[in-house]
Amino acid sequence: MPIRNRLAETHADIVGWRHHLHSIPELGFEEHQTSAFVAERLTEIGVDEIVTGVAQTGVVAVIKGRTDTKGRVIGLRADMDALPILEASGVDYASTNEGVMHACGHDGHTSILLGTAQYLTETRNFDGTVVLMFQPAEEGGGGGRVMVEEGVLDKYGVQEVYGLHNMPGHPTGQFAIRPGALMASADEFYITVTGKGGHAAAPHQSIDPNVTAAHIILGLQSITSRNVDPLHSAVVSVCALHSDVDTHNVIPQQTRMTGTVRALDPEVRDHVEARVKAIAKATAEAYDCVAEVDYRIGYPVTVNDPEHTEYAIAAARVVAPDVDINTPPIMAAEDFSFMLNARPGAYMFLGNGDGAMVHHPAYVFDDNAIPAGCSWFVELVEQRMPAQ
Ligand code: NI
Repeated sequence: MPIRNRLAETHADIVGWRHHLHSIPELGFEEHQTSAFVAERLTEIGVDEIVTGVAQTGVVAVIKGRTDTKGRVIGLRADMDALPILEASGVDYASTNEGVMHACGHDGHTSILLGTAQYLTETRNFDGTVVLMFQPAEEGGGGGRVMVEEGVLDKYGVQEVYGLHNMPGHPTGQFAIRPGALMASADEFYITVTGKGGHAAAPHQSIDPNVTAAHIILGLQSITSRNVDPLHSAVVSVCALHSDVDTHNVIPQQTRMTGTVRALDPEVRDHVEARVKAIAKATAEAYDCVAEVDYRIGYPVTVNDPEHTEYAIAAARVVAPDVDINTPPIMAAEDFSFMLNARPGAYMFLGNGDGAMVHHPAYVFDDNAIPAGCSWFVELVEQRMPAQ
């Protein structure tokens, strides 16, 4: 595949950075060592501006092209956080922070963006400005949202944004994308069912929140089958269920359930939210209980702007011609969605080959994907802001 020669030369260095970052994984908004390492590399590379402490532990850097005749500004983003997983990958540069692991390859994304920064700073073969956004807390903390809320895109006049995520199951270094919804929204619900506790041998003298909770769970299953258009997508999963007793002969007073709602369409998302609340409350009422629903809105749908998806594909085809341009969406969520809601742009999957899926203890980021990732970012910049 046509990887730029210079990126082939710097591959070993970038892999070294990646392995170091892999050995020091940090959770969301705690990426202190990680962001310090990123800032050190950016300083060595010689970018034009570095700002640390963005969205708590994020880093923003600016690289100016050889010319700037049109005031063009492109934002490139990488995520830096790790997951609370005990690593079982077997690699010799494994996590030294026990119970925390780069199991989603964000160490790879960060290294790819650093490699891109190095190339762009050496060559500056573009007309405009590149803003690099190393964001914290993608895995649930919404670091991307915080960056948008802190005004990073406005401050630097970012006009369009691009990001990538490695994806096991696609050949290493190959690209996959689709216009429109690529990843789902992700919301959480916490339903507390209150009944009346009592002796398990006298159920008629109590109001059992467990039985009510069971009916609510089954009722929630009808949302995707009966309330959502069969041609649309939604997920309703109840993942945790706890009552306030832990024994065999007491009917509890309260039972709490927790779950997630995923959708690929904002209207479906809103409809499911309304149905979760209605089913929980009405079912509880039918069984003489009371249900309180704490519904927390999370990451929005990750939507690729069609025009900018074409730009992303054009750049990818230079690097690896066999681009999957209509890859199926997945129901995982991604907080780059906040940036894509604020600016047009596109999110690309970069093949990670066969092996464990992301978020698995045996997951390994494929270092051979790095040159393709860097080359794609570089191509995007040079194609979207051609040198004068
Ligand atoms: Ni990830």
